Amino acid sequence: MRDRGNPRIPSGHSRGLFISFEGVDGSGKTTQVNMLREYCEKKGLEVVVTQEPGGTRIGEVIRDLLLSTDSKDMHPLTEALLYAADRAQHVEEVIRPALLQGKVVISDRYIDSSLAYQGVARGLGLEGVRNLNEWATGGLYPDITFLIEIPYEEGLKRLPKEGKDRLELQSRTFHYKVQEAYLTLGKLFSKRIVVINGSQTPGIIHREVIQEVEQHL
Ligand code: TYD
Repeated sequence: MRDRGNPRIPSGHSRGLFISFEGVDGSGKTTQVNMLREYCEKKGLEVVVTQEPGGTRIGEVIRDLLLSTDSKDMHPLTEALLYAADRAQHVEEVIRPALLQGKVVISDRYIDSSLAYQGVARGLGLEGVRNLNEWATGGLYPDITFLIEIPYEEGLKRLPKEGKDRLELQSRTFHYKVQEAYLTLGKLFSKRIVVINGSQTPGIIHREVIQEVEQHL
């Protein structure tokens, strides 16, 4: 049995396939999500593509609050709770129903984002953020998580100069901590998290992604 992050808590779905993409800002997750969607649809699979924060009507409101540059005074605990609240709504409304219908769910970010950004980079601690999120999701972990790994500086360079959100505007130290946290998570949960070198071309990354996905279909 693969280690999904917490062996005590079952993932809670018996059908479908749950895939998440993770990485620092600007790592190219969204491109890979779209390429994988196309691949799965060509195979005749029913696919739900979604994202965090957001992905539901309630989640979009939470997303605006989290990412607005007006939320400068948001406390790290509030931030962690809001990401978890967004995730609870997302799991109940979108992810779990789709998995129960046997669909492939591809999420642009999920629980590991909270572990890396809030647990490590904000300094709240992995254990607390993990407990909070396991409560919020009923212990639902992805079957596979792709960590698209690039140096954070490269990611920041890829982002548009204008219109950065509150998280993207954090210090370089913060982004460095996120990068390092992801590497740690990749090692801790090596059975669930597949680390991919994100400095390769999108086509090569996609090939590595589908090689892994094929083993689960
Ligand atoms: P996202 O829209 O994925 O940004 P991008 O497309 O630039 O990667 O996510 C918005 C920001 O929210 C991103 O900086 C990461 C952050 N985030 C957290 O800090 N914790 C979380 O649990 C999630 C899901 C995202």
